[in-house]
Amino acid sequence: MMTSKDYMAREDKYGAHNYHPLPVVLEKGEGVYVWDVEGKKYYDFLSAYSAVNQGHCHPKIVNAMVDQAKTLTLTSRAFYNNVLGEYEEYVTKYFGYEKVLPMNTGAEADETAIKLCRKWGYQKKGVKDGEAKIIVCENNFHGRTTTIISMSTDPDAKAEYGPYTPGFVVIPYNDIPALEKALEDKNVVGFLVEPIQGEAGVFVPDQGYLTKASELCKKNNVLFIADEVQTGIARTGKMLACDHENVRPDILILGKAISGGVFPVSAVLADDDIMLCIQPGQHGSTFGGNPIACKVAIAALEVIKEEKLEENAERLGKIFRDEFSSIKSDMIELVRGKGLLNAVVIRNQPGKTAWDVCVAMAEAGVLAKPTHGNIIRFAPPLVITEEQLRDAMDKIKAVFKKFE
Ligand SMILES: Cc1ncc(COP(=O)(O)O)c(C=O)c1O
Repeated sequence: MMTSKDYMAREDKYGAHNYHPLPVVLEKGEGVYVWDVEGKKYYDFLSAYSAVNQGHCHPKIVNAMVDQAKTLTLTSRAFYNNVLGEYEEYVTKYFGYEKVLPMNTGAEADETAIKLCRKWGYQKKGVKDGEAKIIVCENNFHGRTTTIISMSTDPDAKAEYGPYTPGFVVIPYNDIPALEKALEDKNVVGFLVEPIQGEAGVFVPDQGYLTKASELCKKNNVLFIADEVQTGIARTGKMLACDHENVRPDILILGKAISGGVFPVSAVLADDDIMLCIQPGQHGSTFGGNPIACKVAIAALEVIKEEKLEENAERLGKIFRDEFSSIKSDMIELVRGKGLLNAVVIRNQPGKTAWDVCVAMAEAGVLAKPTHGNIIRFAPPLVITEEQLRDAMDKIKAVFKKFE
């Protein structure tokens, strides 16, 4: 019988060391719960970085995948298939856009949005070929490709991967005057932004920031591009985080929960005027829009509406922040977030760091992961019930008590 230690040692020996996981080895998931190889049960408060919004192994989504897998898995886009159009119609009507371009991972969708925005800049805005610029924000996270890390300000993500892709202008997040200034450059074609910065530690911008930013983009004939890979699909208490301000992005980027974490699915949505700037042969992906992905995404999006996960995220998010704010501990600097995308900033002291808290919470049966040394993100599957949330909070409170 292999133990957790054996599994960890094997990954360590044969796998690249590009992650630093918490020391738990999971083998099963259902709803808000996961179990490790020793049979211990945990609440999952990470949800695979907000991919598993519909809960682990949601039967409707898994069945959609299994049924399609037995019928047709992949055709490539060299041919039509009988499922892609169904999905394209479903997802465009769901989010209110004229066209979708299907990809697989979040980073691929971000890459696609960047390429699409540049094409639009040359064809529609009339920027001289090769001179387009896209504005991005400090502490952004859009994925791991060479172009995407070129616009990163995180040394861990970026260092020693150069030479970098040019054409990005970095401004502070949540800073309208900086955006206004950057937009004076007539070669700017897009503003790419996370409506809440997830990986940076759940930074929620001021109310009105997205509205003002999108108005400024419109005024300057610049595309407002929202990366909702982490914030989208009910996570923040609305279908999209941009919906909190009724802002409609010119280009919308989705990933993660669009499949409920069952399969890699991502999407770029835009209207014809923008999307048709890319013509046959100019972009693509062997797996993008494959029949399994299409069926899985339709099922995953149906679950969001059927189970009213937006409302649940909104309601339980408030309870989470209230409960957490009531914990009397000098280790907690602040609690912030929207819906069920929240973070707690820890005042790190020796033996009382965010990592130590996460290890102790795991022992208590709640899984969460530190980011940037002192921030813990709390993002359970949106199917969590109030009873489950309160039970998990009791465990979390006991952990903070233990540290006192
Ligand atoms: C906002 C945002 N964009 C893009 C990505 C990248 O997605 P993927 O890891 O699927 O490439 C992430 C992943 O965390 C993300 O949070």
